[in-house]
Amino acid sequence: MHTDQNDLDIEARVDALLGRMTLAEKVGQLVQDTPFVIPDYVDIMKRQKAAEEAGEPFEISFDLRPEIFERIRAGGVGMISIDNLQQINALQKVAVEESRLGIPLLVGFDVIHGYRTIFPIPLAEASTWHPELVEQAARIAAEEASSVGINWTFAPMVDIARDPRWGRIAEGSGEDPFLGKIMAAARVRGFQSTDLASGRKVAACPKHYVGYGAAEGGRDYNTVDISERTLRDVYLPPFKAAIEAGAQSVMSSFNEISGLPGTCNRFTLRTILREEWGWQGVVLSDFQAIGELIQHGVASDLKEAARLSMLAGVDIDMLSNAYANHLAELVEEGSVPLSLVDEAVRRVLRFKMQLGLFEHPYTDETLAERIILREDARELALRLAQESMVLLKNTNNLLPLKQGAQRIALLGPLSNSRRDLLGTWSISGRGQDVETVLAGLSAYVDDDALIHVRGCSIDDDEPLDSAALTAAQAADVIVIVLGESAEMSGEAHSRAELGLPGRQQALLDAVVATGKPVIGVLMCGRPLVIPRMAEQVDALLVAWHAGIRAGRAVADLLFGEANPSGKLTAGWPRTEGQIPVYYAHKNTGRPASGSGTRQFHEAFKSNYLDTPTEPLFPFGAGLSYTTFEYSELRVETPRLHVGETLLVSASLKNTGTRAGAEIAQLYIRDLVGSVTRPVRELKGFQRVELHPGEESRLTFAVPTSELGFTGPDMRSIVEPGFFKVWIGPDSTQGLEGDFELIP
Ligand code: GLC
Repeated sequence: MHTDQNDLDIEARVDALLGRMTLAEKVGQLVQDTPFVIPDYVDIMKRQKAAEEAGEPFEISFDLRPEIFERIRAGGVGMISIDNLQQINALQKVAVEESRLGIPLLVGFDVIHGYRTIFPIPLAEASTWHPELVEQAARIAAEEASSVGINWTFAPMVDIARDPRWGRIAEGSGEDPFLGKIMAAARVRGFQSTDLASGRKVAACPKHYVGYGAAEGGRDYNTVDISERTLRDVYLPPFKAAIEAGAQSVMSSFNEISGLPGTCNRFTLRTILREEWGWQGVVLSDFQAIGELIQHGVASDLKEAARLSMLAGVDIDMLSNAYANHLAELVEEGSVPLSLVDEAVRRVLRFKMQLGLFEHPYTDETLAERIILREDARELALRLAQESMVLLKNTNNLLPLKQGAQRIALLGPLSNSRRDLLGTWSISGRGQDVETVLAGLSAYVDDDALIHVRGCSIDDDEPLDSAALTAAQAADVIVIVLGESAEMSGEAHSRAELGLPGRQQALLDAVVATGKPVIGVLMCGRPLVIPRMAEQVDALLVAWHAGIRAGRAVADLLFGEANPSGKLTAGWPRTEGQIPVYYAHKNTGRPASGSGTRQFHEAFKSNYLDTPTEPLFPFGAGLSYTTFEYSELRVETPRLHVGETLLVSASLKNTGTRAGAEIAQLYIRDLVGSVTRPVRELKGFQRVELHPGEESRLTFAVPTSELGFTGPDMRSIVEPGFFKVWIGPDSTQGLEGDFELIP
């Protein structure tokens, strides 16, 4: 790792400070403590949503508990998580000016997809396939968070997820490690921008290390039992990319990994992170995850949990009090070597010095009003929302609509929602900042040509509102906004059935029965199981939970102000029974050959009796209002050595009548390996904007290192052999070529 003078200075400062610390003060640096009594967040979110949907502001604030001041003064706290600038400055002042050594506090917070300017959920951001924009959004999130005293965000969430039953698929970049790596690095760079207005820095914290998205049954916190090869080839790469992009902390996960919980797993925490990757950053446990080792059944009590986690390499204990209550005793009785505690404290002190906290512990309290919800941030939120949305169907080019040409019935439980459009992990977002779909459409449609009726609630079995059908019958075209509430997505919000909740399908059935053209807009935090809806509607736009500008973005896309360009980063199953269904699957010894195959048509093959094997909508899928044609694929390096770069080119033409952006994708297949290899793997993509008739020659450069994988002996290898390569619009099609890799 490159060491410059500043690094040497920091190491000298760390040594000097560590040498002055008592054991109690060392333990204090490894403790996150809560400044207030932990509230009932579910109740708070419910009250916040009710107030905001009624158009009333809802401030969330907590009184500091008195004992926190004494604990900080005594050097017993190294980190807090809070979102109130005045309280942060007050607590920071106690740490810096009233404790013996004046060590400033880390101030962490969940700034996952925006602080106050809430951007689309990360799964939606990833669907833009536009890492530069995603990086800009992370930078703005850091700007805003830093202006209120936060210096550490518990993000990006980089867990690969191939099971949409898992609510946290919303927080990541989907099913693919290659795209996941690129988005992870982009978000780390954005969060850790060095030119923030506050003059301070924000540290990223890729999470949840590791394998959390592989929870059995898609049930949150559930058992993860995956092979080391799958761990290394699917779940670890985004963390490595985040660390290579400069992340100096990671968060250890709740889940076990084949018998060892992520928060006491020496293999992942020491062998991989420290020894193989040579990384010296800080490992923060997830919320009370050290204490949860007791529930996991690997620790008999909190003291044993503290011992296991410290020996495995967890540096900071998030709120389980295991370290605060037992670490000093463990050292004194010889159960935990003092050297391990010193190593952990050294990492924490280095982290704080790298953030400049010793020089700039306080935040200017006039800054936030100049930073938060700036116009450039709102503009970026709109652009990201527009580019994140995925057009999956557009029969007879129903879309885009012509302004002033039709009466529109706007229906559905999400047609005028606020908080739901912010999605999961939008704690600091406000409903009043949200542009609803109704507001968005009202900018395009005169009042007398727009009829709005919700028609049903989002998740109960109340009877349909007949006014919705009346509105549908009176309209020329229907826009129906369906999907999930924000609470149906995110942590601890797994769903076993992924259809439309409540009476939404009944409302859609009734509306479709009118025979009018129907445009379905889906707001959700995951791939849903909607084969009936996909069949029924004339046009289908996946709008996700797309942040404060979501409603405007929907309207801009429906009326063609913006041309859809988003592409799925996780396949949409036909039925829950297919899960996990992902494009980079193995061929098996009995592959189902044709699309749409069932057992009856292909006996004794790897398929089902009752449903095709492919997803309803595949990874990489997404339509535009124009059309694109790929031609003349050329493998410029048909035979290349390991260590060289694969060059493949193709032409892309806009063959339609509107300007548009196409996300051209490059996939490879390793035909024969020393272990089985996926039938396709994404290894490149380019976002290309073309005017009607315009043609561009695309060249993809793929270092042969990207063709590597974990071999039979669990070592990373690049094997010579024959490959296929495709360039095309999604993971199921494209121009095909071949190349050979030679030693
Ligand atoms: C939660 C989440 C984690 C979050 C942490 C702090 O339980 O698992 O993603 O950063 O606690 O809120």
